[in-house]
Amino acid sequence: MIRFTYLRAACIAALILVAAGSAFAEGQSEEGAGVVHVYSNRHYDTDRALYEAFEEETGIDVRVVEAGSDELIQRLDAEGDQSEADLIITADVGRLHRAKEMDLLQPVTSAALTERLSERLRDADNQWFALTKRARIIAYHRERADRSVLSTYEALAGPDFSDSIAIRSSSNVYNQSLLASIIAHNGEDAAREWAEGVVSNMARRPQGGDRDQLRAIAAGEADYAVVNTYYIGQMLTSSDPQDREVAEQIGVFFPNQEGRGAHVNISGVGVTKVSDNVDGAMRLIEFLLSDEAQQQFAQANYEYPAVDGIAAAPEIAAWGEFEEDPLPLNRIGELNSSAVRVFDEVGWQ
Ligand SMILES: [Fe+2]
Repeated sequence: MIRFTYLRAACIAALILVAAGSAFAEGQSEEGAGVVHVYSNRHYDTDRALYEAFEEETGIDVRVVEAGSDELIQRLDAEGDQSEADLIITADVGRLHRAKEMDLLQPVTSAALTERLSERLRDADNQWFALTKRARIIAYHRERADRSVLSTYEALAGPDFSDSIAIRSSSNVYNQSLLASIIAHNGEDAAREWAEGVVSNMARRPQGGDRDQLRAIAAGEADYAVVNTYYIGQMLTSSDPQDREVAEQIGVFFPNQEGRGAHVNISGVGVTKVSDNVDGAMRLIEFLLSDEAQQQFAQANYEYPAVDGIAAAPEIAAWGEFEEDPLPLNRIGELNSSAVRVFDEVGWQ
């Protein structure tokens, strides 16, 4: 049986207590080849259905702990070799790279993984693998904004965008990864100038998540925003009519299509260093990269499938095909600390 635990925000001490409690409750007798423990930031019914299908196909039990991405990495670190986790599923290569740097993951190889995923979608040291993709795009107000001035991320620092951009804080890993990609392509000095220009073009102080930037556009506080694609897909199909009303006012622009392509990040998975069931963990990764699972896994969150040739949800496929920045994602992880420093230097809150 699948078992889910949802952790609410808690201090490390509480996390350790939870970990100790669950280790005690589940006991060693239930451990072994037949169970894969997953720490996941995802909380979708579709994911649960996929785990059940995997259990039926393989006889391997899947036990899932759901929590926020940063919280799961902290928990894995705090638990050390006492952790039951075999897999961690989290969003953004910046976080996967951090988990790798913290020595929480282990390298694994499989012909299936290298065949299913293009090289840029897996770690050069085989410590993480993409499950889905998302683009960080420029959203604009369909009527009020001037679509003809949109071209590149770089252009957002220029005079056409004075007082018109809503974008979240620099503490967010999505912005750190975007800036890391700009550092990789243009160098740190140019990236610093860019970040300075965007700060001076902000319509308001950074606040809230990506959805809140879209709400700011609908409310007339800003004309443009930089957001991940799946948030627009989620709001378009939301059960909340206010969300749908916001999303219907939003246009989607894929930047840098004449050049390197739009910044595409991933959610992905890694096998934990302390896993006692690497074989089972690998089988689950391979299952999640199968055609059928890819389609469902990506559609649950309105992301793009990581495996080529699989259809995205119709709501986001409607935006059309686009060029993706081919920069290796490893490089974005490596440049994360430079990006954080540049954001601090220019006072991007
Ligand atoms: Fe997100």
